[in-house]
Amino acid sequence: MESQKIGIVGSGLIGRSWAMIFASAGYSVTIFDIEPSQVSNALKLIKSQLEELSESGMLRGTLSVEAQFALIKGSNSMEEALAGASFVQECVFEKLEVKQKVFSEMEQYVGDDAILSSSSSCIMPSQFTENLKRRNQCLISHPINPPYYAPLVEIIPAPWTDQSAIDRTRTIMESIGQVPVTLKKEVPGFAVNRIQYAIIAEVWRLVEGGVLSADDVDKVMSAGLGLRYAFLGPLEVMHLNAEGMQSYMERYTQSIEHVLGNFGPTPTFTGSGLEQIIKEMDAKIPLDKLEERRQWRDTRLAALAKLKRDLERE
Ligand code: NAI
Repeated sequence: MESQKIGIVGSGLIGRSWAMIFASAGYSVTIFDIEPSQVSNALKLIKSQLEELSESGMLRGTLSVEAQFALIKGSNSMEEALAGASFVQECVFEKLEVKQKVFSEMEQYVGDDAILSSSSSCIMPSQFTENLKRRNQCLISHPINPPYYAPLVEIIPAPWTDQSAIDRTRTIMESIGQVPVTLKKEVPGFAVNRIQYAIIAEVWRLVEGGVLSADDVDKVMSAGLGLRYAFLGPLEVMHLNAEGMQSYMERYTQSIEHVLGNFGPTPTFTGSGLEQIIKEMDAKIPLDKLEERRQWRDTRLAALAKLKRDLERE
């Protein structure tokens, strides 16, 4: 069990999730938010979520709800929240000016060895760390929503981030049961959104081109490819679907090139294609049913996360 202190800056959806994940592994966590009511609200939400997770058998770690909650504190002072922290996870709004301001504040309050990590989904680390004194200790640890059930974390260094900060972040992420991957350099969209956007582009072309309905195109993932991808990535799928990767490429390179050559340009995401997809999605899940459907999604992701954990223990 860990005794290190973690500072969380920003107590919205992602800040709360990080706090729960760190506490589940025994870290002491202090949450700061610019809006004091957000901190007290976050503590209330965390308490009720931990209780619900325990009731449904989904609580992470070996500590009781009370022990985990006791590890999480709130503070209305960034200085107090970050004092003595070895790792700080920033979870504020996804706006460049806010990240720049918060990082320049955070670096004033941490010790020499502390890592300053951002949850940023899209803004590259070099955009908000370049002019900092401690820029060699800054990086992004980008989670996937909902982080409590989807353990992937993309670690994205800026060009000036120390290798030791990257290595320590990987170790910390592994110690809390997340699954880190390290980008060797920053690229727009990091890895998750680059791959996600490639899928979105082709899904869009298939619907817009009159090949599949919006509902059916989603089933291609949820009843097909997605089942495999919950356990193995596309490269391992290829390796297993022939006598290894070399044999797969000998067999299928021509057809891959043929199909890729037929893809067409990036969709514009406007006009009649957009209207059609909005109409079909709104009919499938009306806007007043989104929250219900999110809960449906989270229940299933929780069950899948449990299944994966149980299988790994076997
Ligand atoms: P949110 O809007 O739920 O919470 C942001 C919190 O930051 C608010 O409580 C706000 O009061 C606080 N805040 C704003 N300015 C601040 C400041 N100067 N100092 C301290 N606190 C401040 O946002 P959410 O969804 O939790 O996102 C946080 C970060 O995580 C963003 O960078 C986002 O891109 C990233 N992220 C979000 C995901 C999602 O699905 N929501 C998934 C992965 C990453």
